[in-house]
Order: sequence, then structure tokens, then C-alpha cells
Amino acid sequence: MNRRKFLGLTGGSVAIAGITYYALSDKSNFVRADLKPVTNVNIQLTADERHILYLASLAPSGHNTQPWSIKHMEPLHWIICNDKSKWLPAVDPTQRETILSIGAFIQNLEYAAHNLDYRCQFNLMANTNQDEKVMDIKMIRSGDQFRYNTNSIVQRRTVRSNLLSEALKTEDIRLLVDNEPDLIHFIPSTAKAYRYLNEQTIEANRVQSYRDAAQNELADWIRFSNNDAEKYQDGLTPGSMEIEGISGWVVRNFYGKSNVMGKSFRDQNIDQVEKQVASSAGWFLITSKDASVTNLIETGRRMQRLFLKVRDKNIAIHPMTQILEEPYTHQGLNASIGINDPVQFILRTGYVKDYPEPVSLRRPVDRLIHS
Ligand SMILES: Cc1cc2nc3c(=O)[nH]c(=O)nc-3n(C[C@H](O)[C@H](O)[C@H](O)COP(=O)(O)O)c2cc1C
Repeated sequence: MNRRKFLGLTGGSVAIAGITYYALSDKSNFVRADLKPVTNVNIQLTADERHILYLASLAPSGHNTQPWSIKHMEPLHWIICNDKSKWLPAVDPTQRETILSIGAFIQNLEYAAHNLDYRCQFNLMANTNQDEKVMDIKMIRSGDQFRYNTNSIVQRRTVRSNLLSEALKTEDIRLLVDNEPDLIHFIPSTAKAYRYLNEQTIEANRVQSYRDAAQNELADWIRFSNNDAEKYQDGLTPGSMEIEGISGWVVRNFYGKSNVMGKSFRDQNIDQVEKQVASSAGWFLITSKDASVTNLIETGRRMQRLFLKVRDKNIAIHPMTQILEEPYTHQGLNASIGINDPVQFILRTGYVKDYPEPVSLRRPVDRLIHS
């Protein structure tokens, strides 16, 4: 075989191997619409119960851990539990964000129940953020005329890219602040506190990206491959992190935990955050009167009510919680922005031209239930 023929053959083999590899690779992001319906159902839920729990589970949570589970007492009577295995000790050591996320879940649940003509009777059971049993819920037929439109629950999503700097209209701010200016604070891009929040968000991300415990925890909750996404149905996927195109293909097929711990991944995150904060209409801060379980749940519910209103107005919400998670940035926050009450949510906001579809994954309802 002469040299040219040999090179031709090896070149051809490499090309075939390349095409085969590509054909077998994860070619597109695994998204919510790819989840298959569950067929092996354990506990018999009524259709109403299943629907209510599905909608409740579409609530947001830090790293999409979905830190809730349901103790099924009897039909339409449940206890919402705090799932310890889904805590994030490195960024949320007191489970503050866990309880806020459970609050958002409860808000979705109540709206979903309302849509099916039930009212909810709540009974708080938890005294601390760590108690397993959080809330006893009974659903009772209501006969109300008004039904909440649950489309907003299905369509809600976190949007991290392409927020416009255009100012929010006064009527949109009014709708979102919802007559609660002492709890929902809008910081427009013209305010001094806006610059402070932008700078400190970058700083907090710089600190957190180089804090190994936090980075390790993040790595544990990233589902790079479609295989992992389908297996776990939680966490952050390339799709939910808005990594598309060739970059999406590369991370789906070649990235793993060791990449997250490497310098270039950490630096890329900081660069990304700098780009993100450079463009927005402002920040919504949600405060609470104190950090009791009751008020954290209320605050999670309040955040979710706001979040469910934005899509209709083409407004994006991007929670950026790192300032609160890093003591170095948290300690100076209240004094610098002139707010006394504890800040529970920091939400970047702005209009977007094209609202992307929701893609983050959720575990199936049957995996939430235990007796
Ligand atoms: C308490 C809490 C904290 C969050 N912190 C962040 C954050 O710092 N950065 C971020 O990009 N998203 C953050 N999120 C958004 C979640 O990552 C998101 O809700 C989750 O991945 C599910 O996606 P979805 O909101 O599109 O359904 C947070 C959400 C909650 C409820």
C-alpha cells in the first residue's frame, strides 16, 4: 500500500469514526418535553391529586434540587415534607433557600387546587428549617366561581440570557410589587443600589466559584449528559443553563465533574455573570419581617406569585442569590442598599424579546410520594 493510499484509508476511517461518534452522541439538549410519561405507578392517586402535584412540582428551587416530598395521609390530605437528601449545605447551610423553595411549591399547589375547585386548609408543622414535616394540607371542595389559570404555572421559567436594559413600565412594576412595597422592592437601573447589586453579584460569584465546597456541590447537581438528565430528572442541564448550539454539544458529550472544578469553567462562570448583570432593567428584592419558618414560606409564596405574573408581560426573572450565600458580600448588603429587613430573594429582571419555552426537568409525581 503506498503512502497516499494509506493516508486516504486512515483519513476515511477517522471520518467514519467521527460521523459514527457524532451519530451516537447527545445531539440536542434533553428538555422537559422529552420526559416520558411514567407507567409504573405505586400509590393510586386520584387524577385531581396527580394534576395538583404535577403543577406544584413545577416550582423553582435552588440548583433545581426539588427539595420536597409528600406523605400521603388519605385522598386530598397530605403532609409536605422537607427532603434532607436534596439540601445544599455548601451554599445554603441553614436551609433558608430550601424553605423558600417549599414555599413556592405550596403556592403552586394552592393555585392548582383552586383551578380544580378546591380550597386548601393549611397547618404549619415545622418549627425549624430542618424539620421533616413542614405543612399539613387538606383540600376541600370550594364551589368558587373564580378559577386560577394554571397556564402560567406550566409556562413559568427562569430566564438568564438576553434581558433588555429598557426600563420597566410603571404599570408593570405596580402589578409585580402588588401593594406590598415594604416586602417587594424594585431597584431600577437608575438607582445607586442597582450598581451596588451588580458589582456585588459579580464579587459574590467570584468568591463562590473559587470556594471548592460550593463548586463541588454545583458539580453534583449538573446533569451534563442526556443520560443523566433522563435518569435523575432534576438538577441543572445544559438546556436549563441556556447552553445551546456547538457549546451545548461539547458540554453534553465531553464535560463532567472534573471540568466544573477546573479554572476555565470557574472563570467562564464569572465572565458570564459579568455579561448578565451588564444588561437588565433592575432588580426585585424580596424581604421578610424575620427568618421564621412561617415567614420564609410566606416569602417563597410571595416570590412565586410575582414569578407567575411576569411571562404575560414578557418580563424575565433571574434569581441570583450568591450575595446572600457568601458571608463576605452578605454582611454589607442591608446598610448599602438602605433596607432594614432581611433580604430573601435577589431577582434580576428585564423585558425579553423572545420568551424561551420552559425546559428544566422535574421528577415524576410518583417519586415524590411516600406513605
Ligand atoms: C431559592 C432559589 C435560589 C435560586 N438561585 C439561583 C441562582 O443563584 N442562579 C440562578 O441562575 N438560578 C437560581 N435559581 C433558579 C433555579 O436554578 C431554577 O428555578 C431551577 O433550575 C428550575 O428552573 P425553572 O425556574 O426554569 O423551572 C434559584 C431558585 C430558587 C427558588
